[in-house]
This record gives sequence, C-alpha cells and structure tokens, in this order.
Amino acid sequence: MKGIILAGGSGTRLGPSTDGVSKQLLDIYDKPMIYYPLATLMTAGIRDILVITTEEDQPAFKRLLGNGKKFGINISYTIQPSPDGLAQAFILGEEFINQEECAMILGDNIFYGNGFKKLLNKAKSNAQEGKATIFGNQVRDPERFGIMELDQENNVLSVEEKPKVPKSNYAIVGLYFYPKGVSELAKKVVPSKRGELEITTLNDFYLQEGILKAEILEDGFTWFDTGTHESKLDAANMIRTIEKNKDQIICCPEQIAYEQGWLTKEELTNSIEIYSKNEYGKYLQKIIMKNK
Ligand code: TTP
Repeated sequence: MKGIILAGGSGTRLGPSTDGVSKQLLDIYDKPMIYYPLATLMTAGIRDILVITTEEDQPAFKRLLGNGKKFGINISYTIQPSPDGLAQAFILGEEFINQEECAMILGDNIFYGNGFKKLLNKAKSNAQEGKATIFGNQVRDPERFGIMELDQENNVLSVEEKPKVPKSNYAIVGLYFYPKGVSELAKKVVPSKRGELEITTLNDFYLQEGILKAEILEDGFTWFDTGTHESKLDAANMIRTIEKNKDQIICCPEQIAYEQGWLTKEELTNSIEIYSKNEYGKYLQKIIMKNK
C-alpha cells in the first residue's frame, strides 16, 4: 500500500509565519509539523510515501526528510503547482500509486490516541477488500468541515463539504484510505464552485457505490488540524503535556522505524549522530539502549 502526505497549500491563516516557509515545516512543540502525519502513515505500516508540496518549498522538504533512508522508508516528491484541492493528490500521484491501494494524510493533521494502530489496520484491510475509509471526529463548528451523516450502526448516509446546515457534527478528518483505482476516480471529480477538486466529491463516488466505510475517533482520541495559530499552539501544548506525562516523545518517525524493524541499531545510531546534543537525540539513544 502507498501513502501520500499532502503538504502544499498556501497557509494564509498562519501568516506572517508562513511568508518565508511552508506551514508543514513549522514546528509543533519539539519536531516539524510534517513528522506527525509521517508518523501516522508509518504506524499504518506504509513505507512508500509521496510528499506533495509547492514548487518553492520542495527543496526544504528534501533537506529535512531526504529519500527517507534515515526512517527506513522510501520518500519521493511531487509538486502541486497550485492548491487546486485535496482530490488532486491522486492525479498528481498517479504514477507513484501505480494502481495500488493508497492512503492520504494532510500535512497539518495530527492524530494520537489509544487503539489508533487497530483503526489504521482496519482501514488498510478495507482498502485491500476494495472499500474506502474515512474518519470522523465530533466538532463544535461543523459548518467549517466536510461532514458525514451516520446511521445508528455508523454507516455513512451522506457526505457534504462545509454545509450551511450540517446534518451532523462529525467532521471528516484529513486521513483517507482508498482501494485500487483511486487515480482514475479522482480524474472524474469536477471542480466545485470554489474551483477545487474536492475530496468530498471523491468520497461521495465511493458512497454511491456502497463502498465507503467510516471509523469514528472516540472520546479520548486527539485530533488536531493545526491550520491556525490557536490550534497550532493548542496542539503543541497537548503534545508537551502527553510527552511530559509519559516521559516519551510521541510520533517519532525514527522510533517507529526502529520498532518496526525497518532500521538496525547501527542505522539508527548513525542517523541520530547529528542530534547528540539535543533532547531528541538523547531520547533515541535511550530507545536503543532499552531495546539492546
Ligand atoms: P487548508 O488548511 O485548507 O489550506 P492551507 O494549508 O492553504 O491554509 P490556509 O487555509 O490558511 O490558506 O489545507 C489543509 C491541508 O491540505 C494543508 O496541509 C495544505 C494541504 N493542501 C494542499 O496541499 N493542497 C491543496 O490544494 C489544498 C486545498 C490543501
């Protein structure tokens, strides 16, 4: 299965911080924002990842992540010339996806919670069985999001993009799993009134075919879309609190790679040499000692 991180966009709500750098390269507490979605895809066991960025930001992403070797994965890159909508990721990534199943995560979405790996595995097997999976999280301001309407057994009844009168308060969060053939379907999406290739239209295609599944992020699960200064700071504070309480660094790609057996002890040791003087490096050193 392939994975895409969509990390283009204009980041206007985070201006002026984003005037000189991509939003997804800003930090959330102790690591760059893009490490969080990267960690999510890696937790799902996905090792072939495409990072889609704007043209001017691509060199900085390459500097940060390289070809993925330091995380025991393969990272490739594609440019999105202008932010024409989330569904465009599957058209831009057609060659990379190569007719396989594909997950996509937004570069500014952070997920953390109990049982997440199980949910991801469920979505993965849905994709292998020819079904799409979206994830829902209750929000206070549903008119700002793509919204899913559910019946009592959590079957999806409808999906709507930023409805004026929302049928539920379950927002569709920025993580999607699709079966084979998603690029062909994405090409059938017609631009919306705001001129974007909407992911909600793509999800509606799957719904109409009766192959759209939804998983709900239950209470106690943390999901952040870090697109505003306020939500970005909230996310950073939350990460700090979790890490302090657990005495652990969460969403750490090197740790995930090591624990999945994608990096040997020697490879991890080499890749963290540059961090020897900071807390990130000290933490990973501890992981190596623990798993000796
Ligand atoms: P948004 O938050 O909708 O847009 P943005 O990042 O451009 O920010 P702003 O609204 O403040 O201008 O995007 C959500 C995520 O999806 C974000 O990580 C950027 C990414 N994105 C793309 O990469 N390409 C696109 O065409 C769109 C619409 C979003």
